[in-house]
Amino acid sequence: MIRVLFVCLGNICRSPTAEGVFRDLIRREGLADRIVTDSCGTSDWHIGGPPDERATAEAAKRGIDLSDLRARQIHRDDFAAFEYVLGMDDANIAKLLALCPPARQDRVKLFLSFAPEVGRADVPDPYYGGADGFSKVFDMIDAASKGLLADIRSRHLSDT
Ligand code: 4NP
Repeated sequence: MIRVLFVCLGNICRSPTAEGVFRDLIRREGLADRIVTDSCGTSDWHIGGPPDERATAEAAKRGIDLSDLRARQIHRDDFAAFEYVLGMDDANIAKLLALCPPARQDRVKLFLSFAPEVGRADVPDPYYGGADGFSKVFDMIDAASKGLLADIRSRHLSDT
């Protein structure tokens, strides 16, 4: 089993969108029994809360359901449990590396490193912007999800 954890600041905009998009992709590819997905925030600000309604609306427009997701905070144990710990921006990565045991630091990566064609390193925080920001963020996440699956297939699931 391969385990993937998506991480942002609040776990209500970017990382739940990534979890929703990526789990939909692996379901469609018949890989839901091979890959586990989860998401969390570096902050404790929204623990227990649902995704932001603008993220939920953008995802619904694209056929992705986020309604079952609830925010939680990163925990040290996550670095042992998840092979992929994917931060949305540089600030997320800095927080993750500060918390992560040295032997697990190679598990921590920028999510957009799986989508070089997007031409940027960070998925920008859409929280203080308009609906347009959520649409752009969704497109970046969609691209990186495909690249991530290609990486998992080549490294771990060469039989699929
Ligand atoms: P996220 O966005 O990290 O993509 O979930 C944010 C959500 C909430 C806040 C900031 C960013 N906040 O300031 O509460």
